[in-house]
Amino acid sequence: MLQDAFGRTHDYLRISLTDHCNFRCTYCMPQEEMEWMPQSKLMSQDEILKLGELFIRLGVKKIRLTGGEPLVRKEFPEILERLAAHNVELTLTTNGVLIHKHVEVMKRAGVRSVNVSLDTLNREKFLKLTRRDQLDQVWGNIELLLKEGFRVKINAVALHGLIEEEICDFVALTERLPLHVRFIEFMPFAGNHWQSKKVITAASMLELVKEKFPVEKLLDKKHDTAKKYQVPGFAGTFAFITTMSENFCAGCNRIRLTADGKIKNCLFGKEELDLLGALRKGENVEELIRLSISRKHKALGGQFDPDYLKANPDVIENRSMINIGG
Ligand code: GTP
Ligand code: 5AD
Ligand code: SF4
Repeated sequence: MLQDAFGRTHDYLRISLTDHCNFRCTYCMPQEEMEWMPQSKLMSQDEILKLGELFIRLGVKKIRLTGGEPLVRKEFPEILERLAAHNVELTLTTNGVLIHKHVEVMKRAGVRSVNVSLDTLNREKFLKLTRRDQLDQVWGNIELLLKEGFRVKINAVALHGLIEEEICDFVALTERLPLHVRFIEFMPFAGNHWQSKKVITAASMLELVKEKFPVEKLLDKKHDTAKKYQVPGFAGTFAFITTMSENFCAGCNRIRLTADGKIKNCLFGKEELDLLGALRKGENVEELIRLSISRKHKALGGQFDPDYLKANPDVIENRSMINIGG
């Protein structure tokens, strides 16, 4: 069992399969050209499996595959199937564009739930944000996932000046479709030009929804990142991920493994320990994992306060989101 100094058990691992992505979302990566990780620094398929198996032995019950974009990793199907041989819940966060190529392997591997990033329902805005004209493909794949019986959550990063116009359109989607839309407060990462004035808080988004729909609060679970709501009678739900205005660190059960094999004990923590290096040198990886968990802070999320950000510049020095995987 991986327990930190505050009694939190860590049984949910996010593994980034690659830092590459077929989109160029402005909030996720630097607008300037990125330097991709060299192949030799990335975990190989076997190394992912070895580290994944070690985490499972240490009590991990759920693994989320992330990126960059996890589906651009050529060995995605093999990695997924090999992980599926273990007693672990498998899931992924994807931009959705390549889903149709992987639906069958996802079913075989027992994946039941998929989180798809989609920030706008408008084609021009989609193009501006992702720098790709692929809204139709993403939407088609969301429909495909629903048809195939997957539970689908949509992650929409709430960008000021964008989400206000569309928030009720997203909620309206949940009337007939069993979709779970989650609006995420915009977070600061290296190169994403974050400014506090660009954040639109969950509280103000909820006000906008309430102007148009009756709203019911649903129960949240201890480890949830999202605060859930529903319009009574609608098939789906909507929620807010209050990463900036109200941290949810008390229920944190998450560990991150970057594509270059570094463990991060917190999305906002700068400290990384090199598990891949230790694995390659035949050193004790379990000890490093335990050390990382033991050093976890009580809370680093919810830094909306500009004074906090000034006093904690580490936060902005964090890797770009594309390098962490969310
Ligand atoms: P579920 O397991 O389906 O609830 O997914 P999730 O919300 O943990 O993961 P997902 O990849 O869909 O991430 C959605 C948003 O939540 C992203 O913006 C993540 O960066 C953010 N998020 C996920 N885990 C954490 C976390 O531990 N801390 C903070 N602050 N944000 C997180
Ligand atoms: N702020 C909030 N959410 C972000 N994501 C990526 N970058 C940011 C950011 N700066 C979201 C993506 C994806 C999830 C893993 O994280 O939209 O759905
Ligand atoms: Fe966990 Fe860090 Fe996110 Fe808080 S900010 S929920 S401690 S990963």
